[in-house]
Amino acid sequence: MRTVYLNGQYLPENEATVSIFDRGFLMADGVYEVTSVLDGKLIDFDGHAVRLERSLRELDMVNPISKEDLLEVHRELVRANGIEEGMVYLQITRGAPGDRDFVFPDPEETEPTIVLFTQNKPGLADSPAAKKGMKVISIEDIRWGRRDIKTVQLLYPSMGKMMAKKSGADDAWMIEDGFVTEGTSNNAYIVKGNKIITRALSNDILHGITRAAVLRFAQEAQMEVEERNFTIDEAKEADEAFITSASTFVMPVVEIDGVALGEGVPGRVAPRLREIYLEESLKAAV
Ligand code: PDD
Repeated sequence: MRTVYLNGQYLPENEATVSIFDRGFLMADGVYEVTSVLDGKLIDFDGHAVRLERSLRELDMVNPISKEDLLEVHRELVRANGIEEGMVYLQITRGAPGDRDFVFPDPEETEPTIVLFTQNKPGLADSPAAKKGMKVISIEDIRWGRRDIKTVQLLYPSMGKMMAKKSGADDAWMIEDGFVTEGTSNNAYIVKGNKIITRALSNDILHGITRAAVLRFAQEAQMEVEERNFTIDEAKEADEAFITSASTFVMPVVEIDGVALGEGVPGRVAPRLREIYLEESLKAAV
């Protein structure tokens, strides 16, 4: 049985319970982060902690925990649960005011709820999916306008993943006004020659922590990076495509809406970026 963290306490998972009045449950009024673990260490913890603070601030939520304490909780859960490869999930909600009300509760009276738990994923780095590449379909992006805030409103991304599954694909890329925004739970990229193309940061997409690192490593490796919109048709004609996220690192995409990219197998750039990302982020892991 896992040890989890709830509001200052380490508990067996079956003893950690949250109120039915919690605004995370009633209104998806909460934010989250997923930090990966490799070699028993946290990848890019700092980036996730900084983005968490931003998400909370944008929603006028109080941060119940300092960065130092948060790191300590992450480490303790990794240790207690013996995680070598996997992830730590963190969620903070606006808490349980005791009634359902659209108005935010007074933060002086209602404390946020904070939950962390681990997921064990042996073989995460050496994933067979990364060697095979994944298939994506395209779907309309009908999410809200503040996708830069990492909220727990994940119903549409879940539906997108189900649409992909039903059509024999692995994931969906979302399209707004003709242009790809991002994957259901990852950032989206295409490659043309030596150039990596990905949508620029705005409120339309999540500012991926893996994205930031991968683009930095790409530039350091003299690859060209272009941050601009691209259409799904441009993607289908690209040499390569890939996604990034904390749970998949860099994952090649080999098919879009049934159209194979290049030879229909991972190309040169995405696997190389995955290698660099894993190597460099492991060096900096805490
Ligand atoms: N998802 N875009 C969306 C919509 C996401 O949900 C995520 C992360 C990303 C990539 O961000 P990062 O590189 O910081 O993980 C982009 C996490 C992993 C999840 O929901 O499980």
